[in-house]
Amino acid sequence: MALDIVVLAAGQGKRMHSSLPKVLHKVAGRPMLAHVLETARALSPGQILVVHGHGGDDVRSAFAAMDVTWIEQAEQLGTGHALMQALPSVKPRDDVLVLYGDVPLIRAETLRALIEARDCGLAILTAELSDPAGYGRIVRDAQGRVARIVEEKDASAEERASREVNVGFLIAQAGRLAGWLASVKNRNAQQEYYLTDVVRLASAEGINVATCRPTDAWEVWGVNSRHELALVERAYQNAAAKRLLEAGVTLADLWRIDVRGDLRCGNDVSIDVNCVFEGKVTLGDRVHIGPNCVLRNVTIAADTEVHAFSQLEEAQIGARCRVGPYARLRPGAVLDEDVHVGNFVEVKASRLGAHSKANHLSYIGDAEVGRSVNIGAGTITCNYDGATKHRTVIGDECFIGSDATLVAPVTLARGSYIGAGSTICKDTPADQLTVARATQVTVPGWKPPRKK
Ligand code: UD1
Ligand code: MG
Repeated sequence: MALDIVVLAAGQGKRMHSSLPKVLHKVAGRPMLAHVLETARALSPGQILVVHGHGGDDVRSAFAAMDVTWIEQAEQLGTGHALMQALPSVKPRDDVLVLYGDVPLIRAETLRALIEARDCGLAILTAELSDPAGYGRIVRDAQGRVARIVEEKDASAEERASREVNVGFLIAQAGRLAGWLASVKNRNAQQEYYLTDVVRLASAEGINVATCRPTDAWEVWGVNSRHELALVERAYQNAAAKRLLEAGVTLADLWRIDVRGDLRCGNDVSIDVNCVFEGKVTLGDRVHIGPNCVLRNVTIAADTEVHAFSQLEEAQIGARCRVGPYARLRPGAVLDEDVHVGNFVEVKASRLGAHSKANHLSYIGDAEVGRSVNIGAGTITCNYDGATKHRTVIGDECFIGSDATLVAPVTLARGSYIGAGSTICKDTPADQLTVARATQVTVPGWKPPRKK
């Protein structure tokens, strides 16, 4: 039978105190809704419908590229009302799995188990939480069967004491859900049409309400406040750290790493504290990342060391390189093998050939640097004339003295030796010393100024 997935994402999220729609708040660098949609997609449903409302245009445009059906809920009258808006777009005989846009960490395996548990009636996902505050509670009858769900605001003290909570996800046939929802009323503390009321209606009809639990409780944590968002972020990061450790990566502290994307590691990689990985990052065998580094869309080959406080973005780094401390690699930086880029060196849209070194205080932009080049401290490629960027070409085995300025476009032939402090505006010949600076003079008869 066909399965459709409805994601409820219309709520404002009042408790977030934010002008951003709640489902656009980020976990691991991506909107919560992106996580839910990715998991939904993994189940290969017939269609995914997203109920949006508050800040709907922002939500839609954030996911413009996604193949989903958008359903507008103009007024947010509750989760039951939200689902009702979507059901006309679903065939009555199809199964509908309801997910929430503010419960982002749910795993596809858990949802597969929920789908299995349904057994032609209604299945709900529940969890046993040490702190159930804020969640709807599962109420069971004397035989232990699910009788209904009571929202915390409507619950008696005894019901509140229960730690078995409603996650909010359920699965049933669309036609049945529509039938139950037609008789849901909004006579409750929040004057909302609660989706949770379908549980009471189903069980009153004698339908078995199956329950299913997640493997890890954090999968079902919902986000209604900044505090809960922070807790969900930590749960995500801790799970990511655990996966890295299990795969053989050494983490100096499993609580102090942030993975906001896809981090792939070879054998015996080690990562010191407070590093942030964004986008797609690939670390080769035995790569070491020092403390406080930020890496975004970076590939690093084996045995390279990145030292503390380096920021690397859209860069490709070869084997056995030494980068940092305090290095900055910007988009288009390519380091071949055994390259050293030291402290306060910035590299942008440039390639550094094998065994080349820029160890201190340099800017290398729009440059092609050959093999075994030594770039002295303070060397600058002047790549910008105020209108256009120009290239600097430095041949193999060049030696650039400290504090040289290379005014692009300029080409330094293989083995050029540039005197310290030179301003190089013209191409230089191979294997010769070129010096371009004022000649040093000592002024005869000079006297120091005296106070009158
Ligand atoms: C809901 C459940 C509660 C459960 C909790 C789990 C109900 C009545 N309560 O409470 O039992 O323990 O989730 O996280 O269902 N939404 C809409 N339209 C609306 C209202 C909400 O699309 O009119 C969406 C929200 O964007 C959100 C989801 O539905 O993604 C849940 O709504 P929320 O207001 O957060 O419900 P909770 O109070 O968390
Ligand atoms: Mg919620």
